[in-house]
Amino acid sequence: MCGIVGYIGRMRSDEILLKNLKKLEYRGYDSSGIAVLKNNEIIVRKESGCIANLEKTVEEIYGSCGIAHTRWATHGKPTKENAHPHTSSDNEWAIVHNGIIENYGELKEDLISKNISFSSETDSEVVAQLLSVEKNENLMERVIDVCGKLVGSYALICVNKNTPNTLYLAKQKSPLYVGIKSGEVFVGSDPICLSGMVDNYYSLEDGEFCQASSEKLVFFDSYKNIINKASVKLENINYNSGLGDYPHYMLKEIEEVPSVLRRVVDVYKQSNILDKIDISNVNKIIIVGCGTAYHAGLMGSKYIERLVRIDCSCHVASEFRYSDPIIDDKTLAIFVSQSGETADTISALDLAKSKGAKIVALTNVLYSTVAKKSDIILPVCAGPEIAVASTKAYSAQITVFYMLAKCLQNKVFSKNVDYFGEVEKLSDALKQIDFEDVRELSKVLVDKKEAFFIGRNRDYVTSEEASLKLKEITYINSSAYPAGELKHGFLALIENDTYVFMIATEKDLLEKTLNGAFESMARGGKIFAFSQFDLKKYESENFKYIKMPNLNEEVMPILSISYFQMLSYLTSIAKGLNPDKPRNLAKSVTVE
Ligand code: F6R
Repeated sequence: MCGIVGYIGRMRSDEILLKNLKKLEYRGYDSSGIAVLKNNEIIVRKESGCIANLEKTVEEIYGSCGIAHTRWATHGKPTKENAHPHTSSDNEWAIVHNGIIENYGELKEDLISKNISFSSETDSEVVAQLLSVEKNENLMERVIDVCGKLVGSYALICVNKNTPNTLYLAKQKSPLYVGIKSGEVFVGSDPICLSGMVDNYYSLEDGEFCQASSEKLVFFDSYKNIINKASVKLENINYNSGLGDYPHYMLKEIEEVPSVLRRVVDVYKQSNILDKIDISNVNKIIIVGCGTAYHAGLMGSKYIERLVRIDCSCHVASEFRYSDPIIDDKTLAIFVSQSGETADTISALDLAKSKGAKIVALTNVLYSTVAKKSDIILPVCAGPEIAVASTKAYSAQITVFYMLAKCLQNKVFSKNVDYFGEVEKLSDALKQIDFEDVRELSKVLVDKKEAFFIGRNRDYVTSEEASLKLKEITYINSSAYPAGELKHGFLALIENDTYVFMIATEKDLLEKTLNGAFESMARGGKIFAFSQFDLKKYESENFKYIKMPNLNEEVMPILSISYFQMLSYLTSIAKGLNPDKPRNLAKSVTVE
C-alpha cells in the first residue's frame, strides 16, 4: 500500500509535498516522512502515525526538489525508523517506495556481506542501499540496473544529492503518475496529486522509468531505450470537497447515499452503458472483488442469477487468482473495486483476461488500473470516498448491479420493466429515515465484545457487509451466518445476552428467518430484528423490532445496509474511536 509523492519547482517543496501526501493518506497512515534536497544535502524528517504528526515536526525545509511517503506497514513495525524516505548509508540517495520487494531478504544479506549496514527492518531500504553500491555513472541507468535486481512490486521515486533538479521514477505493478508544467514537476501514486497543477499527465506502465527535471520528462524502457509516451488529459478527477460541517467523512458519506443513488440513476438513464453488456454469447458470469466490493459482488450475483437465470458466481479476488478458474471467451467477468487499484483484484482481472473473458469494471475511479484494463466500465458514481470503511460506494455498487440485472432481465425475457423508478423511490425513502432506533442501539452495543448477524439469501449478504462494517470501525468481534445454518455451529456461541441482528426483507423467507431468531432467543440470545414487515407481535425484552420503510423487496438491501453503516458509525463514536481511520487498515490495498 503506501502513497508516494515527488516535486520539483520553485514553490516551497515541504508545503507542496505535504499537501499532496495528505491526499494519499487513504493508502495508509502508519507513518510518514519527507526528504528535500538543499545545498547538495538530503534533509529527511519522519514521524510515526498519521501525516498530522509529521506536519508538526517539519520546519520549513524548502529545496528545489523532494519526495514524501505515507506508509501502511508491510515489513517492520510502524515506527519512525521504518518510516520512508530511506537513505543509503553514504547519504547519497533517498527513496520512497510503494509495493513489496519480495527478494529483499537475499539482497539484504548480500549487501550486509559487503559491509553495508541497515537502519530499518523494511524491504524498501535495500533499494536505497543498492543504488549507492551500483557503479553506473549514469544515474537513470543505475536506477534501471537496480530495478533489474528487484522481484515484486514497486513504484519508486529516487533522489540523488548530486542531481538536485532530478527525480528518478520506476514502476512495476504499483501505480505512478507524473506531470510537468512551467518548470514544475508533480509525481504521485494517484493523479489526484497532480490535479489543479498540470493540464496533462503521464501514467507509467510496468517496466517504464522516467528521469524528471524541471526542463523535461524523459521516459525509458527497461532496456534503457528512450520511449515516447502519450499524455492523458487531466479530467474527471474528483478530490474530496472537505468535511464541511461533518465531524467525520464516514457520516458525510452515509448521508450522501440518497443523492448518490439519484446520480447513479441520472447517469445510467442518460447513457446506454448497461445496454453495452451483451450476454448473447455468454454462458456464465463471474464477479470478483475484495472486502466490501466482494460483498457488493455477492449481492450482484444474487440479483443476476435470480433475475436473468444465468450461471453467476462471485469470488474473493485473492482466492480466485490462485484457484485455476474455468474461464473462456464465453465468460463475462465483472471486477468490482471502489478504488480500482486493489492488487488482488487487478491480478484476478489479468488472469481472466488472459483466458479470453470479456472484462467489465464496476469502479468508482474511472482512470484507475481496473478501469483501464477493462472492455466496459460501469461507473459507480459515488464521488470521492475518503473514510476507510466503504459505505456510499457499496450502496451505489449494489444499485448498479440491481439495474444491470433488471436491464439484462428485460433483454433476455423481452420485458420492459422500469427499474430506475424503484431506485428513485428508495432514495426518497432513505432521506426520511432518522435512525433514532439505531442511535439508541449503539448506546448498548458499545459495551459488547461480540455480535452476530443473520439473514437469508440477499439478507445474508447484507449480514456479511453489516458485520464487516461493525468489526472494521468498532473492533467488536462480529460474524455473519446464513439464518438456516445456525444449528451447524453458531448456536454453540449463544449465551445470555448475546446480541443477534436479524435482517428479514424477503417475504417468502421471513418465517424461516424468524425461526432461526427464536432458536437463538431460546438459548439466551437478544434479537434485534430489522424488517419492513410487521413484527410488532413478537416484541419482548429479548426481541427488539426496528421497522424499516416498506419498499419493493428487490431494492431493500440497498436501504437496509444504511442502518448498519449508521449503527457501526455511531457505535464507533460512542467508543471514542476515529471511524475514518480504523487501526491497521488502509482504504486502498495496493499490495497482495
Ligand atoms: C471495507 C473496505 C474494504 C474494501 C476493499 C476493496 O469497508 O473498504 O474492504 O472494500 O479493500 O477495495 P476496492 O473496492 O477499492 O477494491
